[in-house]
Amino acid sequence: MIELSLDNSVRSLLKRGIAQLREADIPSFTLATELLLLHILGRNRTWLYSHPEEILTDGEAQRFFDLIARRAAGEPTQHLTGKQEFWGLEFEVTPDVLIPRPETEHLIEVALDRLALRERRAGRPEKSAGEGLQIADIGTGSGCIVIALAKELPAANFVATDISPAALAVAKRNAARHSVSNRIHFIECNLLAFPVGAQQAAPQPGKMPTSAPPAFHESPVTNHQSRLFDLIVSNPPYIGRRESPSLPREVRDHEPPAALFAGEEGYELYADLIAQSAEHLKPAGILVLELGHNSLPAAQPLLDAKDWTDVGVTNDLAGIPRVLAAERL
Ligand SMILES: C[S@@+](CC[C@H](N)C(=O)[O-])C[C@H]1O[C@@H](n2cnc3c(N)ncnc32)[C@H](O)[C@@H]1O
Repeated sequence: MIELSLDNSVRSLLKRGIAQLREADIPSFTLATELLLLHILGRNRTWLYSHPEEILTDGEAQRFFDLIARRAAGEPTQHLTGKQEFWGLEFEVTPDVLIPRPETEHLIEVALDRLALRERRAGRPEKSAGEGLQIADIGTGSGCIVIALAKELPAANFVATDISPAALAVAKRNAARHSVSNRIHFIECNLLAFPVGAQQAAPQPGKMPTSAPPAFHESPVTNHQSRLFDLIVSNPPYIGRRESPSLPREVRDHEPPAALFAGEEGYELYADLIAQSAEHLKPAGILVLELGHNSLPAAQPLLDAKDWTDVGVTNDLAGIPRVLAAERL
C-alpha cells in the first residue's frame, strides 16, 4: 500500500509517479506515468496539462499508485491500460497477444506500396479500395496488421491465422471494434496449414464468419485451389531463445512466448512460411514479411529465383533491415 499525501492534485501525482518510475529504471517513465494517470481519469493529454490543480479522490489516487507499483515491477504499460495505438487505430491488448510495435507499420507501408505498384503496372488507378483482393495475415496476434489493411482497403477480403486461440479471441474483438469483422475470416492453424474446409479466403459477402475456429490441422493444403491470395503478410515470431536472457523483462516476463520465439536462433519459421506462401499466392502475388534484427541473411536466400522475383528489403528508422518483400512468379 502506498501512502497517500494530502496533495492529490494532478501535478503532484504526476511528479510522484514520474519519480517512482525513474527510480525503478523504467524506460519512458514520464510517458508511462502520464498514460497511467490518463487511464485512471479517462481524460486526454491536453486535459492533463491544462488542469494541473485538479484534485483526485483518494480512491483514484490509490488506483493510480497501484498501477505505478505494477509498472515499476515490470508489467508493460499497455497491459495496465489494456490498449495500444497502431496505424492511428486503438487496439485492445492483453497478455495473450504481442503488443503492436511501431516498426510493424513499415510492413503495412510496404504492402500498400507494392499493391499500388501492381495496379499501376496493370494500368489501373494506384489508389484502389482493394476490390477482388484476397489477403492473408499469418500470425495475426492482436489483429493489428489485418485490421489496418482492412481499413485501408475497404473492398478487400482477408484471412487471419494464429496458432493461439486466445490471441484470435482478442483479434476478433479488435475487428469488431473497428467494424471489419465481416471481411476477415479468423482461422486457428499452424502458419498456412488451413484445416480442410477452411480454404475459402474470406467470408461470403454479407455473412459473418463463424465464431468457432476450425480444428487445428497439421498438413498444408497444396492443391491449386489453395493458391488463393494476392497478398500474404506476416510478422512472425523471430527472437532466438538464446537471446531470452538479454530481453527487457517487460518482454521476456509478460509477452506470450509463442509470439516472441521461433527457435534457438529466431529465424527458424521463415523457411516454412516462405515455402507455404509460394503455394498459397497467385502468380504475381506479393509476400511481405517482418524481419528480426538478424533475420535477413537467413530469410532472403529462401526467396529463390525459381519462385520469386522483385525481392526488396526496407530498413526501419533505426536502419535495421525490417521488411522483406517479393513477388511470386
Ligand atoms: C510476433 S507476433 C505478431 C502479432 C501481430 N501480427 C503483430 O504484428 O503485432 C507473432 C504471432 O504469430 C503467432 N504464431 C506463432 N507461431 C505460429 C504458427 N506456427 N502459426 C501461426 N501463428 C503462429 C503467435 O501466436 C503470435 O500471435
